[in-house]
Amino acid sequence: MKIEALPVVQEEYQLKDYDATARDFQWEEAEKTFTWYETGKVNMAYEAIDRHAKSDKKDKVALYYQDADRKESYTFGDMKTWTDKAANVYKEHSNLAKGDRLFIFMPRSPELYFALLGAVKMGTIVGPLFEAFMEGAVYDRLLDSEAKAIVTTPDLLGRIPLDRLPDLETVFLVGDNIKEDDKFIDFNKALKNASDAFEIEWVDKEDGLILHYTSGSTGKPKGILHVHYAMVQQYQSMKWVMDIRDDDIYWCTADPGWVTGTSYGIFGPWLAGTTSLILGGRFSPDAWYKAIEEYKITVWYSAPTAFRMLMGAGDGIVKKYDLTSLRHVLSVGEPLNPEVIKWGMQVFNKRIHDTWWMTETGAQMICNYGCLPIKPGSMGKPLPGVKAAIIDNNGVEVPPFTMGNLAIKKGWPSMMRQVWKNQEKFESYFINDEWYFSGDSAYMDDDGYFWFQGRVDDVIMTSGERVGPFEVESKLLEHPAILEAGVIGKPDPVRGEIIKAFVALNEGYEPSDELIEEIQQFVKKGLAAHAAPREIEFKDKLPKTRSGKIMRRVLKAWELQLPTGDLSTMED
Ligand code: PRX
Repeated sequence: MKIEALPVVQEEYQLKDYDATARDFQWEEAEKTFTWYETGKVNMAYEAIDRHAKSDKKDKVALYYQDADRKESYTFGDMKTWTDKAANVYKEHSNLAKGDRLFIFMPRSPELYFALLGAVKMGTIVGPLFEAFMEGAVYDRLLDSEAKAIVTTPDLLGRIPLDRLPDLETVFLVGDNIKEDDKFIDFNKALKNASDAFEIEWVDKEDGLILHYTSGSTGKPKGILHVHYAMVQQYQSMKWVMDIRDDDIYWCTADPGWVTGTSYGIFGPWLAGTTSLILGGRFSPDAWYKAIEEYKITVWYSAPTAFRMLMGAGDGIVKKYDLTSLRHVLSVGEPLNPEVIKWGMQVFNKRIHDTWWMTETGAQMICNYGCLPIKPGSMGKPLPGVKAAIIDNNGVEVPPFTMGNLAIKKGWPSMMRQVWKNQEKFESYFINDEWYFSGDSAYMDDDGYFWFQGRVDDVIMTSGERVGPFEVESKLLEHPAILEAGVIGKPDPVRGEIIKAFVALNEGYEPSDELIEEIQQFVKKGLAAHAAPREIEFKDKLPKTRSGKIMRRVLKAWELQLPTGDLSTMED
């Protein structure tokens, strides 16, 4: 198939010559941007906030925050004050020490950002949790990481099973009328009273910074640990991929519960000294377009599902707003359909630049750059300094246009350093100690562009969120009516995939619409709304291997009316 490439539309980008840079660039050059290159003193929060607060960027706005109730702005100087105060709050009211885990479980608000960067200033490892997580999901993560403290809100407190979390010593509550004791601290009050002078904790480049739990196809979610050194790639990609400049107003729409919301919602933009908008509240086409108009957003990073939802809202609504401030639009999380790129050309008069990366990679890896033509449907080319390839199952590179495993040569700066307490899982990502296996299948064309084809495992991507089928199946099995459960991703035009569950019922239960509704609520309340199956189909029996493993590929074949393939391992 011949794909028309969209040409470069602007002369000047910071990454000017992709081929030459990809050939010659060394990460050592990027390290020189940071003060630690000379001082030897490392801390992500210093580079993202304090450094700018000491420079002529002191009075530059770092954060515009807006939701239905609040509209505030904070300069880099203000951010230094508030994050120093937050660090002092932890110091005064908890036993948190360097390397301990502190979780943040709350909706977006300025306090979330103070709390997170304050913890980084302490040398604490931060675990961000998406606000929609319910008790089961929260429990698994806090328990696995032996979290010592959490910052949350009174509304969410009920989802934290305190009596079953022996390591959790301190709970910082962000809200009004907080009753305090040794364990429960009024975060806002403490913040107000705290000193704004804090001696930052210098760490090693390889010390833990952030712990994002993410899903695989088997087992509980795993804790992906990133270190302070990830800043090198996060910063460099802000320049080359986002093409960020000093006068940009940048908006990343992702929640910090997910890696995009930290790497490119916190660290990346502030490392680059960028003015960044954080919009709280839920998705709404009007609110989003209005934000672009009002804040004169120039660089916008969002996701295919959001673009498709905007597309679905129609062109009439677009016309109500002035979106001409947009200079550079980017996407991440799922395949970006050529359809959506076409729509972007029509409504924004901009190419949408796809970027591919993962929780495990910590920063953008394969991208479309301003200086290169875009081939709609392709993820683009590797970041200079990153070596990507398509390899077979033995780690051997395959020729162009051959489908295989999308792999990255080990050792890029923002690579995960650990799967929390699970060395075996960590090692299982690598082959021959050389290649990192992404779990995605793809091919490369003869121009070196990569084309995403699918996941090689059963991981589901729904509205850009990664859901492990095992976690959903485990929750389903806790429901008294359910005997067996198998969960797959079913292709969906808006959400990429939706979650579909096949269930067999226990004796005494009958399929019904009420039961479907009840099961959906059960997963919503126990795990998270985005993990609840949108479709549930009842079966007398599910396809299993002789060892009793549910055969999801057979379920998928049933669903898509495809051949079921080799059934030799299936029980009778
Ligand atoms: O399957 C790929 C898909 O998202 C997976 C990673 O999910 P997560 O760790 O939650 O990180 C998402 C955002 C960094 C990948 O294995 N994915 C991510 N970006 C793209 C993509 N699939 C196709 N095209 C992309 N641009």
